Amino acid sequence: MAILPIYKDGHQILRKKAQPVIKITKKIEKLIKDMLETMYDANGAGLAAPQIGISMQLVVIDVGQGPMVLINPVIVKGSGKSVDVEGCLSIPGLIGYVERFEQVTVEALDIKGRPYKVEGEGFLARALQHEIDHLQGILYTDKATNITKEVPVNEG
Ligand code: NI
Repeated sequence: MAILPIYKDGHQILRKKAQPVIKITKKIEKLIKDMLETMYDANGAGLAAPQIGISMQLVVIDVGQGPMVLINPVIVKGSGKSVDVEGCLSIPGLIGYVERFEQVTVEALDIKGRPYKVEGEGFLARALQHEIDHLQGILYTDKATNITKEVPVNEG
């Protein structure tokens, strides 16, 4: 496994739409493991592949319930509204308040390529939306109000 450099805001790859994963190869399995290691090393709660310079639809999340791997994730349902603070490993030193769905249902593939569904609320729902936005080339600062310089919270 390896800790990978995290690309920072201003890098063009963070603004590209990520490509879907067609086949889960050994290389992709290794990439996912490296993404998890990189996320934990950076004390993040989530990381999307564009943040390590790979324009593919891969996300890892750990909001304290263990590692979650999402390949080709899609939000299929969102309900409620919540405004809370976010940071991003690609935008160090800033935080901002973002309105998100309070609950989301996400469909994705797991590391074995099996389809599964995640129903998240609160911080997990927020992390899912933040990371899936990364796959669309969207950063939380596009949506945030009251962006301030502070120590970032644990977010991807
Ligand atoms: Ni982020």
